[in-house]
Amino acid sequence: MINELLNLVQKHEEWRGKQCLNLIPSENVMSPAVRELLSSELGHRYTARDRFYMGTRYIDEIEQYGEEIARKVFRAETADLRPLSGHIADLIFLANFTTRGDTLMCISPENGGYPGMWNDALAGLLSLKTVPFPFSKDDMNIQVEKAKETIKRVKPKIVIFGASLITFPHPVKDLAKVARENGACIGFDGSHVLGLIAGGQFQDPLREGAYALFGSTHKSFFGPQGGIILADEEHGEILKEKVYPGFVDNAHWNRIAALTLALAEMEKFGKAYATQVVRNSQTLAKALFDYGFPVICSHLGFTKSHQVIMDYGSYEQGRVIAEKLQLANIITDCVIRIGTCEVTRRGMKEQEMLRIAELIKRTLIDKESPEKIRKDVAKLCDEFQKIEYCFK
Ligand SMILES: Cc1ncc(COP(=O)(O)O)c(C=O)c1O
Repeated sequence: MINELLNLVQKHEEWRGKQCLNLIPSENVMSPAVRELLSSELGHRYTARDRFYMGTRYIDEIEQYGEEIARKVFRAETADLRPLSGHIADLIFLANFTTRGDTLMCISPENGGYPGMWNDALAGLLSLKTVPFPFSKDDMNIQVEKAKETIKRVKPKIVIFGASLITFPHPVKDLAKVARENGACIGFDGSHVLGLIAGGQFQDPLREGAYALFGSTHKSFFGPQGGIILADEEHGEILKEKVYPGFVDNAHWNRIAALTLALAEMEKFGKAYATQVVRNSQTLAKALFDYGFPVICSHLGFTKSHQVIMDYGSYEQGRVIAEKLQLANIITDCVIRIGTCEVTRRGMKEQEMLRIAELIKRTLIDKESPEKIRKDVAKLCDEFQKIEYCFK
């Protein structure tokens, strides 16, 4: 059994780490140094806010250092690295600024909003009524004027920007005033675009009117898997008081040390990385569109994020495509969303995006044998095994 387990992990590492083009926009790769901290001694330890545990002197300093650098990277008044995932960060924000029966306004899952926020998930758990943002699928964005009217009519207690399908900045600036005037607490779920925000290449929710920016640390950000909350002082201090013991007990200090180093990487290399991510997405989107793939939003230049979206009409249809790509070791989800974070972090640039588009075309249009394409995918991956945008 033990050998089989080790064998499976090794096979996975060899396959997904070395032979696959990993294009899922929810995923990224950590630098070797961040990965090393994730398996450090800190992973054995506990702390608690009430000082129940001894032996935490270095951990406490690591937490302070992590918060300090997070505040700097995001120009936030407060930072909290304890949420164990983006979902938990969402929960912490929602639960602390709503009560049962309040109205939550956000992007609905059918328009690419995060399903975990909606009726079957957090909104249902917290007994919140959901009202979707009026949304244009053509422009992949919130319809500002209609949203203003809805906010005035519904007076949501909480408004959350950000989404799982996110190719363009959301109009936080245009809607924050009316939301605030109508009594809403404003948040931005930056799970997908956190690395682009940190790199100054997407939008800046905390300057545009959001009280808090929160989400995952491992999609466009440099990892490890986990969550974070950045906020203004007023809202951030309330959340910090409540994280323990209600939402997080042990915060996984190995993760926090690793995240602190990832934040330092982002501070130094974030701008160059995020700029290249967006360039890569735009290059890949155009090349795929030119081959005839159903890439959305050609009239808007396709994308300003790490995501390229191809519309096959349904997840079922998307799955058929994703499975064909998987046979060629090209890994996407079933939307189909293609993400450029990981390949960018591995050092790929515009030229390689053209190669990826060609590999996708050979798989789906030319219908070449997957075996042949897998060899070329492996060759491309082999050239880009090193992780870039990190300290050497
Ligand atoms: C917009 C958004 N928020 C939150 C989450 C949840 O993040 P995590 O997987 O870190 O819990 C996701 C996950 O994909 C997401 O897309």
